[in-house]
Amino acid sequence: MDIKVSRTEKSRLNVVDYDHLGFGKIFSDHMFSLEYSGGRWHDPSITPYGEMCVQPSLSALHYGQAVFEGIKAFYSKDGSVNVFRADKHHDRFNRSCERLCIPKISWEDFWDALYALVRLDHEWVPKKRGCSLYIRPFVFASDPFLGVKVSDTYRFMLITSPVGAYYSGGPVRLLTAPEYVRAFRGGLGCAKTPANYAASLMPAEVARKKGFSQILWLDGLEGKYLEEVGTMNIFAVIDGKLITPSLEGTILDGVTRDSAIKIARDLGVVVEERRLSIDELVSASKEGLLEEVFGTGTAAVITPVEEISHKGVTIKIDGKKERRLSQMLYDEITGIQYGLKQDRFGWIRKV
Ligand code: COI
Repeated sequence: MDIKVSRTEKSRLNVVDYDHLGFGKIFSDHMFSLEYSGGRWHDPSITPYGEMCVQPSLSALHYGQAVFEGIKAFYSKDGSVNVFRADKHHDRFNRSCERLCIPKISWEDFWDALYALVRLDHEWVPKKRGCSLYIRPFVFASDPFLGVKVSDTYRFMLITSPVGAYYSGGPVRLLTAPEYVRAFRGGLGCAKTPANYAASLMPAEVARKKGFSQILWLDGLEGKYLEEVGTMNIFAVIDGKLITPSLEGTILDGVTRDSAIKIARDLGVVVEERRLSIDELVSASKEGLLEEVFGTGTAAVITPVEEISHKGVTIKIDGKKERRLSQMLYDEITGIQYGLKQDRFGWIRKV
């Protein structure tokens, strides 16, 4: 891909406080764009990060035909930049595009764009452990048209943001919300599309006002089985076994979820991908068999859950085994990401 690059005249890097990054508030100097029209992707460019011009009738704003991803790049101990599982993210990006009738992007174009942008802004990759450069690829329908139909034109973009922890307050408290539904089978649940996050905002706000960090979604049909958290997949350790909801079309096929499963199996842990009911969690907790609950996500990495509240019943997960498995998975995944452990699964691509 022949990318036209126009560099910023004044980098903002020197005003960034790398000790207080937070998540998703600071954006690096440049952004990538690729246009789609006439049945093909064209005009790749890198320009200074900043405002962009779109029409008020932009169809993505009205009907949500859009898809995004979240990928992380890490400063490796050898001084290079490690991008984690970009191919798996690209795969999911295209699966989401398929569901939203958005033309796919080839792996070559996706990687060329990501490589060029991260290389140009490589100085923005945080050097501190626990921090990374969050890469946000996204695509949106750009027809200026108010009829409900598949757009003929699109823009694919990449922006990057130096980030710290998503849940900076440590272990999280989750609330189920039986009166709300995130997704039904056949819906958009497995696509990484803004509509799923829009659906989560109001229930998450209710949860936040009650002192919880996020909603733990239950299945839409029976309100019985765990699905995912607003920003993460969910795992429980019951009697030594690692259990996570199976992929049945209503939850995201998380890249960190997949990494946790592969690492756990590699370490000899029994992993079950199956339906897990909230009643099973309550019983396991009463019997003293619920050892850990944690969430996984690119932004959230591995985040321990300390409490789940469901219809007035509180499940306390006291971490009495020092969150042994989640800590081990966190150490393994981040060890590979920062180049401190051998990349035995071939998950790292260097920039
Ligand atoms: C991610 O983990 O990358 C996400 O997209 C979750 C959230 C920040 C929307």
